[in-house]
Amino acid sequence: MEEFDWKNQVENKEEKLKLAQRVAKRAKDGEIIGFGSGTTSYLTAMEIGKRVKEEGLDIKAIPTSNMIEKLCKELKIQMVSLEEAKPDWCFDGADEIDAHNWLIKGMGAALLREKRNMQHSDENYILVDSTKFVQRLGEKHPIPIECEKEKILQIQEEVKKLGANKTEIRKSNRNEGYLITDNGNYILHAWFDKIESNLEETLLQIDGILESGLFIGYDIIVIK
Ligand code: A5P
Repeated sequence: MEEFDWKNQVENKEEKLKLAQRVAKRAKDGEIIGFGSGTTSYLTAMEIGKRVKEEGLDIKAIPTSNMIEKLCKELKIQMVSLEEAKPDWCFDGADEIDAHNWLIKGMGAALLREKRNMQHSDENYILVDSTKFVQRLGEKHPIPIECEKEKILQIQEEVKKLGANKTEIRKSNRNEGYLITDNGNYILHAWFDKIESNLEETLLQIDGILESGLFIGYDIIVIK
């Protein structure tokens, strides 16, 4: 999935960079760190990379996308998978955050591995610049949902039954087709007027849905 330019197209870069630098300072020698995806995570990975180079820190990354994997290779940061190791802590960005610290993530289409990292870590730092705060979750973004390709039409119907007022299969930025995730799946975007606390769980019960970008009730540390 080479759809995004996290290096060069960074909105609100100055603010994101400050957050990235603060979180990068936390990295200690010998730690295993979950690396999120998106532009904020990209900047954070770059800052950790600088410390690895300058201070010779021994850091292992658990990356959440092929693009972050590629960056880790460039930065000469070693990588491990969740099957091999548990993260000491993780960092990631978010698309929306509300007053309960509920999140929408995944507009960078990396939500599946982002959620796995968060579920396997006891310490999760979510970096949010001022544009990410909302009164109502779903105010600016749809919920991205990773789906098995061949079940997408049934899923679309089921998600509408749950109250979505609009659904759309995410299109590729690069070609005429649909975006294909790193895991070989489609992303369905679903717009809801109201997101209930059980929606994350309910979506997962639909056959063919692999994960959603809804993060409800996770114990996160917000860096703002
Ligand atoms: C990637 O799939 C996302 O979850 C990102 O963390 C989220 O989209 C935030 O992106 P930015 O850091 O680019 O704002």
